[in-house]
Amino acid sequence: METKINNNKIIKDDRNKKVEAHGGGFIKKDDYFYWFGENRLGIKKVTCYRSRDLKNWEYRNDVLTLTSPTEKHYIDTDLDLNPFDDADKKFDCGATIERPKVLYNEKTRKYVMWMHYENGRDYSCARAAVAVSDTVDGDYTYLGSFRPQNYMSRDCTLFKDEDGTAYFISAARNNADLHIYKLTDDYLNIEDTVNKIWINKYREAPALIKRGQYYILVTSGCTGWTPNQGKYGYTADLEGDWSELFDLGDETTYDTQPTYIIEIEGANTGYLYVGDRWDGEEYHNSEYKFLPLEVSVDKENVSVKLMWTEKVNIDFEAGKIY
Ligand code: GAL
Repeated sequence: METKINNNKIIKDDRNKKVEAHGGGFIKKDDYFYWFGENRLGIKKVTCYRSRDLKNWEYRNDVLTLTSPTEKHYIDTDLDLNPFDDADKKFDCGATIERPKVLYNEKTRKYVMWMHYENGRDYSCARAAVAVSDTVDGDYTYLGSFRPQNYMSRDCTLFKDEDGTAYFISAARNNADLHIYKLTDDYLNIEDTVNKIWINKYREAPALIKRGQYYILVTSGCTGWTPNQGKYGYTADLEGDWSELFDLGDETTYDTQPTYIIEIEGANTGYLYVGDRWDGEEYHNSEYKFLPLEVSVDKENVSVKLMWTEKVNIDFEAGKIY
């Protein structure tokens, strides 16, 4: 199967509605790619779509909403997704949930979502939030928001290693540093802070892949909705030393901010960069860009190149993106 995605076309779902899944995360199950993202049309929610070819998207469910079931799982957490509901109607469309990412836990057979939580009014909470479901696109149960080991936590991502160990990576200390947290076996909690990287470098919008022996982390700088120079760095040990940062794409990362890297596994593994092209004035006009990410790794060198192309071709059998 081959797909051609036109980056200049608005992505619509099977209902002919614009796909609302900003700051998105993806997970593959059976023949489908599931796309989760921020939906701020009206009442804020996390919406899930699925596609076999990454081009035709089927709306599946609003998987997390203000009326999602909640469960008290942690000792110290805030289960409220609508903090200003009655006091001030201006803010009655709920908490701001950003960059939702989902992993499947083989042991508990549950899908676990981690995301960034803010109160809907400002960015002062700096918390992570967690939700869980028995099915990939079912109704997620909200487990609440908190600061991982008391650190501020904003832009974030999840990563599952080959042995099933999972990590939550998020911007800490007012975005100055990136923290890597190891998750507990059930992925529902932080086991420990295992690394603090690129101290004082203000990197955010993290997306992590593993190629060969290297973990490669793509990030943006910290300029709100305005695009900036993307950079990547790498390590052979998530808990050890990391490389310095290297430029990715042009000085605005082709007017995008990273949100996820989809692996296309065929004869080879291809990498599809997914970025948000934000419209800071009118959030709902923000777009998604799918771009080829060329990753080459040998014993000593890691090189990552992001290319702009209006039309991106995906050859699923070959695992090739061009
Ligand atoms: C960006 C961040 C987005 C959103 C935005 C708000 O830096 O990556 O997810 O939080 O700031 O200004």
